[in-house]
Amino acid sequence: MTLTPAIEVQHLTVSYGPVPALLDVSFEIPPGQLVGVIGPNGSGKSTLVKSLLGFVKPDFGSVNLFGEPVDKSRGRVAYVPQRGSVDWDFPITVREVAMMGRYGHVPWWRDLTREDRRIADAALEMVRMQDFRHRQIGQLSGGQQQRVFLARAMAQGADILLLDEPFAGVDAATERAILDVLDETKQAGHTLVVVHHDLATAAEYFDSLLLLKQRLFAHGTPEAVLHPELLAQVYEGALRIFSTLPTTEEEDEAGGES
Ligand SMILES: Nc1ncnc2c1ncn2[C@@H]1O[C@H](COP(=O)(O)OP(=O)(O)O)[C@@H](O)[C@H]1O
Ligand SMILES: [Mg+2]
Repeated sequence: MTLTPAIEVQHLTVSYGPVPALLDVSFEIPPGQLVGVIGPNGSGKSTLVKSLLGFVKPDFGSVNLFGEPVDKSRGRVAYVPQRGSVDWDFPITVREVAMMGRYGHVPWWRDLTREDRRIADAALEMVRMQDFRHRQIGQLSGGQQQRVFLARAMAQGADILLLDEPFAGVDAATERAILDVLDETKQAGHTLVVVHHDLATAAEYFDSLLLLKQRLFAHGTPEAVLHPELLAQVYEGALRIFSTLPTTEEEDEAGGES
């Protein structure tokens, strides 16, 4: 029995204007992988995320999730918002955020059932936030906030989770905490697609990488994708940003050049 890919993208082409943001992009992701999407600014990373959510209509091509067209598989995929995009003063508790994941499952005239609450609590337990369930989200650390939003996505029933630059603007400890949650979420069987801009950490963080610049330049193991010639081709003038990448032979131990 062959495993149905969690994500199957075929010849995906998306444009907002005359120039396509994505052109003829095709790839497959098996379930249970933590996948990084890399590429320079404006290379179509966020457009790919929106396409996987079914938020943008392709000019051409298709997106299938577990063998179903994306517009028929809403609920299987969830977007985990970036910390910076959330109003942390909004008075809502951890449990209420997790329960928001259930509202798509009940008609508007009905309240959440006991079962909905159980599912929300189970999701909080999964991300180890059940002890914080009565806390206001604004009072949590960055890593804890990300855990709560992952719980909401899980409560929704999604098995594919999408994150757009979750490490942007967080300190090193929070970055590590978020990465740990992503790893645990993967261990629990979810498929995660994460837009990431730091090439220096991409190899350590992800099982596989997608290298985008309008077209999909490479897809595979970090070792294969983070190939200096390939990166030079895709990043062109922005070469500086991967000066921190270890070389393939050995890391430059001398470090502090002046
Ligand atoms: N809503 C939009 N309207 C018009 N152009 C857009 C819109 N969103 C993105 N674009 C353009 O599409 C290209 C890809 O954008 P995006 O997917 O946001 O790239 P990335 O996330 O890699 O920075 C860019 O040239 C961007 O200017
Ligand atoms: Mg983007």
